[in-house]
Amino acid sequence: MSEFEGERIAKVIARAGLCSRRDAERLVGEGRVKLNGKVLTTAATNVTAKDVVLVDNLPLPQKEETRLWRYHKPAGLVVSNRDPEGRPTVFQKLREQLPRVLSIGRLDINTEGLLLLTNDGELARFLELPATGWIRRYRVRAFGHVEEAALAKLEKGVEIDGVRYGPVEAKIERVQGDNSWLTIAIREGKNREVKRICEHLGLQVNRLIRTGFGPFQLAELPRGGIEEVPTRAMKSSIGEKFFKKEDDAHRRRKAQRP
Ligand code: URA
Repeated sequence: MSEFEGERIAKVIARAGLCSRRDAERLVGEGRVKLNGKVLTTAATNVTAKDVVLVDNLPLPQKEETRLWRYHKPAGLVVSNRDPEGRPTVFQKLREQLPRVLSIGRLDINTEGLLLLTNDGELARFLELPATGWIRRYRVRAFGHVEEAALAKLEKGVEIDGVRYGPVEAKIERVQGDNSWLTIAIREGKNREVKRICEHLGLQVNRLIRTGFGPFQLAELPRGGIEEVPTRAMKSSIGEKFFKKEDDAHRRRKAQRP
């Protein structure tokens, strides 16, 4: 297929900032996406700039400049657009302060700390890809004590209940009564990874704070605080690989316009 034959519809919807690629595929499955006036029945469809795409009968928003925010997530908020149990979500909390945003990865309801948010679904996807491999840094308070030697073994990676985790850098920060404070760094982003690794060591996590994600740090951002990353810093931290691809796609779409 030549690059001028268009792009997958879910990718185009995600890039417009409406939702993630996966959610866009779901919208197609629910019959909420029209292509040139007809309800689309499969997400395995390519579109070009000449096609008219409607979601819930509305045109896609014009793609805006990619923006990125650092957010200090407090404990008690769910990172999800809809919570079946009706618990408060990060997105409800931020609705009045931000345009429509997506989170880059997730944190569990009781996890605190750095959550990156963006208006660009493709950026969110790119930064979540295992191949991007950004390091996630955490401070952990856990019930129990552990030997440095047990932590050192994690450097080679570990398999827990059939799930393989890559190299984990874990250190004891201090011991506080029955609890230990640890620092843990891991490159993956698997579900409940820090809690699972700690359980494997006989520790029970009772506080989890993400302090860093790739080149971005929680630093002094106050709890509940949000700060936009300036465009230049964002572009240089994320790198050419993503923005070059985006610029090329933008040029292609422009060239396709009648
Ligand atoms: N690991 C976890 O167990 N939970 C999180 O929220 C993040 C990493």
